[in-house]
Amino acid sequence: MGKKNVLVSASILGCDLSNIESELKRLEKAKADYVHFDVMDGVFVNNISFGIPVLKSAKTKTYLPFDVHLMIIEPEKYISEFANAGADIITFHLEATKDIKGCIDLCKKNGCRAGLSIKPNTPATEVFPYLELLDMILVMTVEPGFGGQGFLPFTLEKVKEIRQKADEMGLDIDIQVDGGITDNTCEDVKKNGANILVAGTYLFRADDISKAIESLR
Ligand code: DX5
Ligand code: ZN
Repeated sequence: MGKKNVLVSASILGCDLSNIESELKRLEKAKADYVHFDVMDGVFVNNISFGIPVLKSAKTKTYLPFDVHLMIIEPEKYISEFANAGADIITFHLEATKDIKGCIDLCKKNGCRAGLSIKPNTPATEVFPYLELLDMILVMTVEPGFGGQGFLPFTLEKVKEIRQKADEMGLDIDIQVDGGITDNTCEDVKKNGANILVAGTYLFRADDISKAIESLR
């Protein structure tokens, strides 16, 4: 399988949320590839972020595509609503639902690309049965729930296993990594086969977001 271009998905969990419109404009100028939109329900993870109404209004402020990361239980209940609110990619957690196939179908039926995510301690092999049906796998490189955590190096092996399996199967799938991605950790994730890098803290703390995005690519 040929090498894929590296894309950067900017997590707005780390931005100034009181100025979301200007933050989105900054991301456009800096040529981010996606806006990463972290939805937390206080049940699947120990934190609550934002949801459907915020997505709907943010969507009107930018042309950038929205990469929605659902950290919620029973995602099947809300996938259609997130799609209608403007999601372009919807990623849900394998640990959060009993109906993975049904969730993938819902994403597609609603015109979204479908992503499946695993937490750091979930084995890579768990996603193998679904690879053919998916557009993207998200390998969490921190425990989901909070921005600003340190990258967990043991997750690299899982990125590698999934890329190898996808190559064996002849699948050109996207592999996304999320959590603790910086100019220091990005080389290793790319080397192991990730091609979409989520970054929040690293980008929004940088003096120059566009340089920071370039440093990840
Ligand atoms: C964590 C979220 C991440 C988070 C990444 O649960 O899924 O998207 O915002 O933030 P940083 O880049 O700060 O680790
Ligand atoms: Zn995320």
